[in-house]
Amino acid sequence: MNGPATTSGAPDGDEESLICSASGVSSALPSSQRCIGEMPKILAGRYCLERLLGAGGMGVVYRARDLLHEQYGDPDPYVAVKMLSEELGDAPDAGALLYSEFALSRRLSHPNVLRPYTFEVDAAQRRVFITMELMRGLTLDKLLCESPLGLPWPELKPIAIPLLDAIAHTHGRGVVHGDIKPSNVMLSAEGVRLFDFGLGLTEEGPLKGLPSLNRQRLDAWTPAYAAPELLEGSPLSACTDLYSLACVLYELASGRHPYRRLPSTQARDTGLERELKAPRNLPRRYWTALRTALALDPERRSISVTQLRALMAGGSFWW
Ligand SMILES: Nc1ncnc2c1ncn2[C@@H]1O[C@H](COP(=O)(O)OP(=O)(O)O)[C@@H](O)[C@H]1O
Ligand SMILES: [Mg+2]
Repeated sequence: MNGPATTSGAPDGDEESLICSASGVSSALPSSQRCIGEMPKILAGRYCLERLLGAGGMGVVYRARDLLHEQYGDPDPYVAVKMLSEELGDAPDAGALLYSEFALSRRLSHPNVLRPYTFEVDAAQRRVFITMELMRGLTLDKLLCESPLGLPWPELKPIAIPLLDAIAHTHGRGVVHGDIKPSNVMLSAEGVRLFDFGLGLTEEGPLKGLPSLNRQRLDAWTPAYAAPELLEGSPLSACTDLYSLACVLYELASGRHPYRRLPSTQARDTGLERELKAPRNLPRRYWTALRTALALDPERRSISVTQLRALMAGGSFWW
């Protein structure tokens, strides 16, 4: 995905007032400091974008230096800055869209969930963005490229348990992630982090204060990781997250997606579940549980994230 444009289309009334109230600090900067080619160089007069870290279906993420923290001598003034892609950034509900992601992740407080810092507006460049903890590591999809046969259990367990913990915490706080997949989990020296709540929801539904958010076009599920009922219009739930999580765990343990990366509806309709084989690196005693979490029929997905975690952590728990 390309870097963000310097300007965008006219926001709707709500966003206009949000932008205006944010007293455009960056407009005081000389234009040479504001843009590098198409990419704004400094956002909100404070965040100096240094390089692109990644791009997904909705956003672009940059490494940035927080100039204020740097001025006060912070030895590590780096943050990650996420803004919407050019296409989504121009939408009338762009602010609400990104704010929803920020607000959901701010409900959470767990060492394995990426920490959001602030939600910001650059008035002059008409950009909303999130600042957050900068991760220096690999997303699980990159890790899988380096380990095409999957990870041996002693390496996999220290990823699986924190990931299960992060998701159990998320569900415990009434939040459903909605987009669990290898590129939304990172591993670094500081540990595992779950991130990207852009498609997430609270159990009560969309945030009440965000009436302008058009949720429908957010149903941009990743077909190979989204549960079949989700692809067929059922709502997000802890059970749909469980399916996605199980696909990730299977892939980490075998190097292969459980259903050949097919949309889950197609995997179900072609009977692929009957061909499922235990992943080579998963201890046999966990297979029945993982297989249950991979069920293409939600009625048979009768295990919870907490139960799976307790079992894989070595407890004697069974369901
Ligand atoms: N806090 C972060 N630190 C380092 N890299 C990040 C961070 N957040 C995201 N990234 C990188 O940017 C990519 C896209 O971010 P993500 O939030 O998943 O965007 P999208 O909503 O478009 O999928 C990630 O896959 C990852 O490579
Ligand atoms: Mg993502």
